[in-house]
Parts: sequence; structure tokens; C-alpha cells
Amino acid sequence: MQVSPATHRRVSIAALIALSVIIVTGAAVRLTNSGLGCDDWPNCNSEKLIDVSSAHAAIEQLNRLFTGVVAVAVIAAVLVSYIRAPRRRDLIILSWLLVAGVVANALLGAVTVWVDLHPYAVQGHLLLSLVLIAAGVALVRRAGEPDGAPRQPCVPVVDRVLVWGVALGTTLAVVTGTVVTGAGPHAGDENAVRLDVSIPTVARLHGSSVIATVIVALILARRVITLPESRVLSAGVSRWVFIALLQAVLGYTQYLTGVPEILVGLHVAGATAVSAAAAALVLDASAPQAQLPGGFGGIVETGVTTGIESSPNVTPTSQ
Ligand code: HEM
Repeated sequence: MQVSPATHRRVSIAALIALSVIIVTGAAVRLTNSGLGCDDWPNCNSEKLIDVSSAHAAIEQLNRLFTGVVAVAVIAAVLVSYIRAPRRRDLIILSWLLVAGVVANALLGAVTVWVDLHPYAVQGHLLLSLVLIAAGVALVRRAGEPDGAPRQPCVPVVDRVLVWGVALGTTLAVVTGTVVTGAGPHAGDENAVRLDVSIPTVARLHGSSVIATVIVALILARRVITLPESRVLSAGVSRWVFIALLQAVLGYTQYLTGVPEILVGLHVAGATAVSAAAAALVLDASAPQAQLPGGFGGIVETGVTTGIESSPNVTPTSQ
């Protein structure tokens, strides 16, 4: 049995959607104080595998059930990557990365319960989920690209530095965000320990990292508007700036209104979207050789060069 590249891409999209949804359902567990609705893993508690006698237990188990959906989605991505015609090593590796990440996060989820929702474990759980989003975006993007056409940088080096600046800034914003959460009131259980840091101080650090990253993105946006050779980043940088600004408005609103659960839930969904946009932007800075403007070697039609002309031309071949 064989499947087409289009089918493999559709399966990858399904895996990415499942990986995104579970981040929000996981946040719902924390925000409804259901983090210890089941105090054991994989059983709900020492007596029952499945226990729906309380709302907290039911919510926690729904999230665990959804983990099964995610597992099926990423395993399907691996299986389909083997029967895809032609078979591609990069897609097989990326699909396996998703499976490995989901297994690691399931184990980390168990550790999180065993350490009574210690903030470091909760932080690690979300951060690994966001890394999987980046890997999922890469899988979807690459699954839609021609076979046998290695990626090459397709924008000037300054743009690439700025793109990585946005990606690193997003990472910093996400990490500092989890520190604010670790110190804040939404622990997932009223008895969970909290990080001993000043909330206003870490929130300021979090907000500042976002502002700094938005500035880097705006510098990139200006180059995209003025330089033809940077224009390929137009959609990616606009998308990132748009989502990040919405997320920043949401962040300040929730901070100033006492972090209501619904806004925090939306903020987690926003963090997922910003992370996906950052990963997509990084991918925009390179392209399969066959898709480079001006043909192989990356020489842009306008006559302006991308600085990669010295790279060897590779004729695409089917594997
Ligand atoms: C690019 C923009 C932003 C990103 C990617 C981002 C990301 C995050 C992440 C990942 C968390 C942790 C969520 C969790 O652990 O469940 C978080 C929490 C938080 N963020 Fe942001 N954030 C952004 C902008 C902002 C801004 C501008 C503010 C304003 C100060 C803000 C305020 C907060 C607060 C107060 C929390 C803690 C919420 C809680 O108690 O759980 N965020 N953010």
C-alpha cells in the first residue's frame, strides 16, 4: 500500500491540530483546579483506573483520553511517512520526533502528578508541548515540498539573523511566561507549591521580552517592505506580528484584571499560535532549491543576490 504526498501532508496537519488542541485542554485542567483530579497515573487513583465521581477527576481524565487521540495522530504520521511514495528520510525523522516528544510528555505528565504539580514540572510539560508544535509545523511544511530538493537559505543573512531573533525572543517570552504562571494563582491544585519569585518582577520581565521581540520583528517587517530580496518573508512576519500583538493585549488585560481563568486559557492558546508562527517564519527564511526565486542557487529575479549563490546547485531527484 502506498499513499500520496498530499495524504501524508493531511495526516501531518491532523497531528499538528491534535498537538495544539491538547495544549488548551491541558490548560483547562490547570485552570479548573483539576490537576490532581486523579492523583495517580496511568490509573486515576489507587482504587480505580477510571473515576468520574468528581468534576475534577472527569476533567483530568478527559484530558488523558485526548492524549490517546494525540498518540494515534502522531503514530499515524509515522506509519504514513513509511508508506508515502516516494519515501522521505526527513519526513520519517520529523514524524518520529513527534512520537518521541509525545511519549516524553506523557511521562512528564505522570511525573507532574507524582510531584504534586510542582511548577518546574508544569513548566517543562508546556515547554515540551510548544517544541512539538514547532516540530509539527516543520513536518507539515516539509511534507508539502517537492521531493529531492534540499532547503537553502532564500533571504539575506541580515534577515536570517532577525528571523532567529524573533524565534529566540518568542522562546524567551514563552519561558518567562511559564515562570509567571509558576508563581501565579493558577497552580492546578490549591495545595501545589508556588515559585518563590515576585510576580510583578517576572511579569515585567515577561512583558519586556515580548516588547523586545516585537521590535526585532518590526525591524524585519521594515526590511520586508523596502527590500525586494526580503519580500518572501512578508506573510510570515505579518502573521507573527499580528498574533503577537493580540497576545500582548491579552497578556496585559489578564495581568491587570487579576488573571481570570478564561483569559489565561486564551493566552495559552495564543502562546501556541505565536510559537507556531515563529516556527513558520524560520522555515520561510529557507526554501527547497527548486522553489527559490530565479531558479536553483537562490539568485533573485531582480538581480539582487541572496548571498547564497555560492551554494552548489542540486538537481532535484526523486528518492
Ligand atoms: C508574544 C507574546 C506572549 C507570549 C508568547 C506569551 C506566552 C505566555 C506563556 C507560554 C505563559 C505560560 C502559560 C502557562 O504556563 O500555562 C504566559 C503566562 C502569562 N503571561 Fe504571557 N505571553 C505573551 C505576552 C504577554 C504580555 C505582554 C503580558 C503582560 C504582562 C503577559 C502576561 C502573562 C501573565 C500574567 C501570565 C501568567 C498567567 C497565569 O497566571 O497563568 N503575557 N504567557
